[in-house]
Amino acid sequence: VTSTSTLEICPSDHAASPEERAKRMTNPRFGQVFTDHMVVIPYKEGQGWGRGVLKAYGPIEMSPASSVLHYGQAIFEGFKAYKQKDGSIASFRPEANAQRLNKSAARLAMPELPEARFLEATRALITQDQAWVPGAVGESLYMRPLMIGTEPALGVHASSEYLFILMASPSGAYFSGGVKPVTVWISDDYVRAAPGGTGFAKCAGNYAASLVAQRQAKGEGCDQVVWLDAIHREYIEEMGGMNIFFVYQEKGETVVVTPELTGTLLPGITRDSLLQLARELGFRSEERKISVAEWKAAVAEGRMTEAFACGTAAVITPVGHVKSRQGEWLVNNGETGPVAAKLREALLNLQHGLAPDSHGWMKTI
Ligand code: COI
Repeated sequence: VTSTSTLEICPSDHAASPEERAKRMTNPRFGQVFTDHMVVIPYKEGQGWGRGVLKAYGPIEMSPASSVLHYGQAIFEGFKAYKQKDGSIASFRPEANAQRLNKSAARLAMPELPEARFLEATRALITQDQAWVPGAVGESLYMRPLMIGTEPALGVHASSEYLFILMASPSGAYFSGGVKPVTVWISDDYVRAAPGGTGFAKCAGNYAASLVAQRQAKGEGCDQVVWLDAIHREYIEEMGGMNIFFVYQEKGETVVVTPELTGTLLPGITRDSLLQLARELGFRSEERKISVAEWKAAVAEGRMTEAFACGTAAVITPVGHVKSRQGEWLVNNGETGPVAAKLREALLNLQHGLAPDSHGWMKTI
């Protein structure tokens, strides 16, 4: 047992054998296989964040009166660690996730976790479970930080106790079809987030509220839902749990456009990274409003050549077919376009250490 003043390392007595680990790491479906360990850090009002522990991955015990179960104080993050060309392991922009977690925490009246504690937990868990980091391009160790309110009290107020938990899951492609264009349903019946609400926060409730719309999209023969703004029900916000991009050809120039951050969208770290990479690849990038009518017209006029969604889990997913109550249309004949493919390759090469990391985005463990 080793420890620092903030984190105690208690390795599991029944870690998976190399054979069992190899078996469980073969073509894992997203988020279904977990490594041997997790990190848990407790918080108590008046005392702050206590000493954390890295220990065997497994069930956590809490009171059925825990506030998260009733009033939903739950926020999470997602980022990935990648095997590098030289065999080392590096995670992609973990400090950006630490910062976003704290923005979510502030919105949900939860305590902020010092960035150093977040990064210490990350480093400790990846070091302990490094044998679980897959090696192939497109595969990674998906890191899932979570913060929940655990005070056993039924009064509606901010919990006075919390747990921060970090778990890790070896992952391949997020969508079972691999990198294949998806069909989307533009939702008129449901709204994901309204101004002043929690849209920018990565809180569990946003995802819970999305599921019925996702089910409706499936019923319409689509893979994913596309959200519109709450006020005008006109401007594109996000696709499912991912940000969305559009590619235009304007006067011989390729322009990559994504909805501007208005407070109702999740400020995606992949979104931010792609905006920067797009400029380096010679594309112009814009953050602005895009209406459904513009999407439809720009495709019909040949000005819009591609649309794709992006996120940590699935990286880049082309949108090939759009359905809505206002009709349906294909984007790029339903196929993956060159700009999406180029951006995806550039990002994955950077993440796997196959291209120079000029931004300092990769944090070696
Ligand atoms: C991502 O795109 O990484 C997401 O946030 C989706 C996740 C909830 C699985």
